[in-house]
Amino acid sequence: MFEHFSTPRDLFEYQLGSALTMEDDSLTMLRELEVAAQGVEVKQQLLHHQQETQQQIANLEQAFQLIGKEPDRSPSPTTKGLMKEGTALVAKTDKRLVDSVVLSAALSTEHYEIAAYQSLCIAAESLGLTGVVELLKQNLEEEQHTSEELTQAARKLATALAAA
Ligand SMILES: [Fe+2]
Ligand SMILES: [Fe+2]
Repeated sequence: MFEHFSTPRDLFEYQLGSALTMEDDSLTMLRELEVAAQGVEVKQQLLHHQQETQQQIANLEQAFQLIGKEPDRSPSPTTKGLMKEGTALVAKTDKRLVDSVVLSAALSTEHYEIAAYQSLCIAAESLGLTGVVELLKQNLEEEQHTSEELTQAARKLATALAAA
């Protein structure tokens, strides 16, 4: 189907749908990474973010409700690509180093999600969609917080591995 967007509102709605696909894929990726992870703390961190991601999906569905639309999933191939890259590297890496790959793959997704929500917040603000902005900001802040947690975990692990 050929799609063309000529208004900021249409473009925003499409991108909101891409965020929904992005979160579905993130959830799948977090589950796979949790299985691949070796350390208990890393597993717990990934599990916690799965729960947050489920709430983020609910927030996006609510955002659709607020604009009077059914949740509509638009294409979003990026997270699928990041997942593919992460999974391929996990398969090639020694178990004792796997958590470095897991944390790095998770961090890649977080940064993509942050970028997506920053743009969506800008668009929703300019369209005067106050309630939607609040929901998107909640998601953005969680992704930023997760990105910081993952960075700390990656640093701790790298230090331990270098000392081993
Ligand atoms: Fe997310
Ligand atoms: Fe996330």
